[in-house]
Amino acid sequence: MNSYGHFDDASREYVITRPDTPWPWINYMGTGDFFSLISNTAGGYCFCKDAKFRRILRYRYNGVPMDAGGRYFYIKDGDTLWNPGWKPCKTPLDFYECRHGMGYTRICGEKDGLRAESLFFVPLEHRCEVHRMKLVNRSDRPKQIQLYAFVEWCLWNASTDMENFQRNLSTGEVEVCKDAIYHKTEYRERRNHYAFYGVNRPFDGFDTDRETFLGMYNGFDAPSQALAGTSGNSVAHGWSPVAAERFDLTLAPGAMEELIFVLGYVENPADAKFCAPGVINKAPARTMMDAFATGVQADAAFAALRAYWDDLLGRFTVASAVPELDRTVNVWNQYQCMITFFMSRSASYFESGIGRGMGFRDSNQDLAGIVHLIPDRARQRILDIAATQFPDGGCYHQYQPLTKRGNNDIGGGFGDDPLWLLFGTVAYLRETGDFTILDEPVPFDNVPGSEVTLLEHLKISFRRVATHLGPHGLPLIGRADWNDCLNLNCFSLDPDESFQTTENVAGGQAESLMIAGLFVAEGKDFAELLDRLGDADAAEVRTAVRTMEDAVKKHGWDGEWFLRAYDFHGGKIGSRECDEGKIFIESQGWCAMARIGADEGLCDKALDSAVKHLECEHGLVLNAPAYSSYLYQYGEISSYPQGYKENGGIFCHNNPWVIIAEAMAGHVEDAWRHYTKITPAFGQQSHDLRKVEPYVFCQMVAGAEAARPGEGKNSWLTGTAAWTWKCVSEFILGVKPQYDGLLIEPCIPLRYGTYRIHRRFRDATYDITVHSTEDGPGKVFIPYAPGHQTIEVIV
Ligand code: GLC
Ligand code: GLC
Repeated sequence: MNSYGHFDDASREYVITRPDTPWPWINYMGTGDFFSLISNTAGGYCFCKDAKFRRILRYRYNGVPMDAGGRYFYIKDGDTLWNPGWKPCKTPLDFYECRHGMGYTRICGEKDGLRAESLFFVPLEHRCEVHRMKLVNRSDRPKQIQLYAFVEWCLWNASTDMENFQRNLSTGEVEVCKDAIYHKTEYRERRNHYAFYGVNRPFDGFDTDRETFLGMYNGFDAPSQALAGTSGNSVAHGWSPVAAERFDLTLAPGAMEELIFVLGYVENPADAKFCAPGVINKAPARTMMDAFATGVQADAAFAALRAYWDDLLGRFTVASAVPELDRTVNVWNQYQCMITFFMSRSASYFESGIGRGMGFRDSNQDLAGIVHLIPDRARQRILDIAATQFPDGGCYHQYQPLTKRGNNDIGGGFGDDPLWLLFGTVAYLRETGDFTILDEPVPFDNVPGSEVTLLEHLKISFRRVATHLGPHGLPLIGRADWNDCLNLNCFSLDPDESFQTTENVAGGQAESLMIAGLFVAEGKDFAELLDRLGDADAAEVRTAVRTMEDAVKKHGWDGEWFLRAYDFHGGKIGSRECDEGKIFIESQGWCAMARIGADEGLCDKALDSAVKHLECEHGLVLNAPAYSSYLYQYGEISSYPQGYKENGGIFCHNNPWVIIAEAMAGHVEDAWRHYTKITPAFGQQSHDLRKVEPYVFCQMVAGAEAARPGEGKNSWLTGTAAWTWKCVSEFILGVKPQYDGLLIEPCIPLRYGTYRIHRRFRDATYDITVHSTEDGPGKVFIPYAPGHQTIEVIV
């Protein structure tokens, strides 16, 4: 069994010890509006605000070899050309290590006695990446080497950058100074922004024309200038602008040289774009470079970044008997929640950054992972999302981060979408107690003058679903519900049409039990909220919830589990009567979380059935048996081979629904087992089998019916992050934020039942020691009061 790395808990780092990981193992940098993706070999790219419209570095998707493009350092030492991150030259190294930490990555390589330690981070206050390169001659001979620092510019719009060559190959423009290369394509016309790659000493040579640096038919692994130890001093006019900077260095034995690079992005006001005709105003870039001119300054900026993460991750910590649990809770799950909140589903090594913006449903769920960390930003996000809603409660499925405007690029009219606004807002309110957000005026579809309060948006959301019911009184599914691939109103036989935007048969009446469960769960929470506000509409909400519960019991129960849906023609989906897709996870999770029919034993039965039919070695699959052929009345779900994605994959996002429901039902061992199966720190799969990063959740792990069960895909950007956080923090460790305090109600096996929690909650700090007992699980309520409290809880 190959191992490619391990956790370093004390440093909050994952240490990668071999560069040839089964898939690039990446990290993210950035906390404001400048973000970077960086792989363990320094591949990746950065952007400001929007991965599609303000892309700074070019990246090659579907590239061969994989992961082409990044910030590459080349070292020419005698006849050897090598990269400290191994790629792209892949010269064998004497030592390699990559440490992915909180918002930074260190890559260290050593070859023939020369050690190159690089640190990459995005500082808090600037729109840039800082690259610190430290070279140490550990040999006993003097070394004369060339160091090259290389990046390739993207012509801003990452989408047209890949297609519109008849234009692009003529537009590229740069400016070169002695210590910085500026990328200014299109600045002469409508853009007010440029990028630069600067360094804290003059370089000895440069190239800005890619072909001059690489050679026309060479790859990144064989740049002809670096192979020769030379530079072409080329100035790009069109074609593909790059920044390649050469430094001739002499290092005595034991000597150290440090260079600090700044890869930055600048926006200038319209009236201060130029300092001379055609010459860009570089003052802001200079200021940024000056801020990192010395090691002391870079140290300070890095220390500030560490302090930022120390503060955030200091808000909720656990000390238990289970190291895998502690490192997941204290570090990696919360970190992934932050990244998912920042990126939504836009930019990862599975999301191209050009396809999807911020999802209405996704971003609302992401809130549950970060309300305790960055409540102000959660507040703004809620208002941004609500502003994309329509007056009838429907909404765009996504909006573009740059403009905050909704669009129909990936469809609209998903039956579940409006309810997630309730979910996100309630999570925010319980954490912060900030009810003023409900009075904020929020427009519809961003149209000025259309504002109503956020509370009104919530009511409209609820009513939208309450009034869009089908023949069985269950919610209409629309384009799809949470499962984007259950497309019951689209009958597509044309491979060129999208399942989510095609509507080719009118009058769809398909209904969803997943939405029914979501509606009841969110409706109960909404009624509680309205009660608190003294709002009489609580009664209407409760009635609608009761009616829905009745409809589920009457038309949504299949005998041993909850049905999944009724199709266009009123046929059952997820029923023992079906040949395939007899049982689905989403309706078991949601109806059981909503406790529909709990008194009659329905929830227990549904959860038992989930264990019996859906559980496999690596988690709970989405449906079983998976569909073995394409069924045009069901849509995209049946387009996936069995065991993958929404067709029988372990869609990790929905496993926590079952875990939470198990916890609510008091099924301690089941909850724990499901949790440890999907949580990567527990290491249930080998690195080679899992393939993707062992420190973050992935959207999907191949299910039992797949060719390689246990293989992970779509790591990083997934609702799994927020949902597992909610599940482990509130339901397993049992720290539930309420409007008036914290309810402690754990569900953890007795053998791990004593642990300590440190929790910041509004203006209070709690140190809680939990002791679980045989009679548990029980619960204890701790009222909110500012200040510090140390509490022992016996449950
Ligand atoms: C993807 C989507 C999410 C959807 C899920 C299931 O993760 O981002 O919105 O709910 O797939 O189809
Ligand atoms: C596909 C994927 C699903 C994702 C959707 C986004 O349907 O299977 O996971 O949510 O695309 O549009």
